[in-house]
Amino acid sequence: MRKPYIAGNWKMNMTPSAGAAFAHDLAEAAKKAGADVKMMVAPPFVTIPAVVEALKGTGIIVAAQNMNDHKSGAYTGEVAPDMLKDLGVNTVILGHSERRSYYKESDEFINKKVLLAIEEGMDVVLCVGETLEERESGKLEEVLSTQLSGDLKDVKAEDMCHITIAYEPVWAIGTGKTATPEDADSAHAFIRSFVAKMYSADIAENLIIQYGGSVNASNVKALMAKENIDGALVGGASLSVEKFLPIITFDK
Ligand code: PGA
Repeated sequence: MRKPYIAGNWKMNMTPSAGAAFAHDLAEAAKKAGADVKMMVAPPFVTIPAVVEALKGTGIIVAAQNMNDHKSGAYTGEVAPDMLKDLGVNTVILGHSERRSYYKESDEFINKKVLLAIEEGMDVVLCVGETLEERESGKLEEVLSTQLSGDLKDVKAEDMCHITIAYEPVWAIGTGKTATPEDADSAHAFIRSFVAKMYSADIAENLIIQYGGSVNASNVKALMAKENIDGALVGGASLSVEKFLPIITFDK
């Protein structure tokens, strides 16, 4: 059984004080509602310490949205994995489409970060997904295969338990357009079969694959009802209790 894994990617929102107050309210609301999914929030770097403090003892995972591909050194403006671990952060989102497109992160570069995260004993939420142009020109499977084989290069089978995949079609992120549950499920099924070929049927069966891209209270149930959709990576709708609570309690 794959336990549902719902994550909130705060992107460049929430100051430390606003983030801590929101995290506190979210944890209270989740507890009251009896949410029993695996839950994660990913605040901006500077907001992480306040959120870690606010969520202590709640079981809600605090993750980073990115990290550097080196352990330390002269990389002005960057954050190393051991800095995150020192705060109690053991999960990192890598390869988000905003980092791929705005900051030109390549599969090779993302792969370096994935390997470093694993070396550092961290869990990774690895984002993959196609643009509208790629989907419309029939390149969905080609794009996903290239991303998965590039980003997971040299990741050993025994480390795949530290990897979650987030399928996020670029055209659905922040646009209000969601993939239909059927389209999302078929992309997830492709990802699972590709991972089965790269590794094994067993590893693919246990792999958590989140869907991301305009997930909200009204579409989450239909998406989560699909066989291959095991969770959600939520942007906009993760920024208020009112919008995020119905998502983390989709099964209630
Ligand atoms: P969205 O973002 O829910 O606002 O579309 C999802 C994401 O980028 O992870």
